Amino acid sequence: MHNLTSHILATTAESRARQKNQTPRVIWLTGLSGSGKSTIANALEQRLTATGHHTYLLDGDNVRLGLCKDLGFSDQDREENIRRVSEVARLFVDAGLIVITSFISPFEKDRVLARSVIGDKAFVEVHIDTPLAECERRDPKGLYHKARQGQIKQFTGIDSPYEVPRHPHVSVMTMNQTVEAGVQSIIDHIERP
Ligand SMILES: Nc1ncnc2c1ncn2[C@@H]1O[C@H](COP(=O)(O)OP(=O)(O)OP(=O)(O)O)[C@@H](O)[C@H]1O
Ligand SMILES: [Mg+2]
Repeated sequence: MHNLTSHILATTAESRARQKNQTPRVIWLTGLSGSGKSTIANALEQRLTATGHHTYLLDGDNVRLGLCKDLGFSDQDREENIRRVSEVARLFVDAGLIVITSFISPFEKDRVLARSVIGDKAFVEVHIDTPLAECERRDPKGLYHKARQGQIKQFTGIDSPYEVPRHPHVSVMTMNQTVEAGVQSIIDHIERP
């Protein structure tokens, strides 16, 4: 560690962002499993790319199959998962991209860590706010069913807590907002002058 010096580079974060004609950010979606994070993330990325933006989507399951495949779901491993994702998101912001992340990210302290790694200015916290009962009713991956049968341990909302964000930049209530309306409320926030 002591022999490392970060190199001063001629091409800066600002010049990369300017070339892409956009303000790089991380749109951090948090919410219960089945709340609609991946659905909204996917629709949001489609909207942004269709309007000429440069994006990248980091989605929970995809990251857990690659970068974080050595990690499980203990509190410690969830923390490490979020730490790695935050560092990757920070690099992509430096590259000039609009990053969308789609992780349950149930713990307040991990979201605080993400915000501090990424930086206050670039970090947009979006709570995909769907009641547990509705997530369980949707159960798009059959995971709640398995968790209730005891086949999955430490499942968020069942036997592992979800700490509701206290001051998210945007709340998307999927019970009374369509996917398109949810996407629009996020766009409205990031386009606000
Ligand atoms: N207004 C809405 N917004 C988003 N999703 C909705 C909405 N209404 C219904 N849904 C449905 O809810 C489900 C959400 O599943 P999705 O995979 O997006 O959840 P997730 O939050 O990514 O879960 P996980 O954390 O397990 O990956 C989908 O089947 C989607 O079609
Ligand atoms: Mg998902």
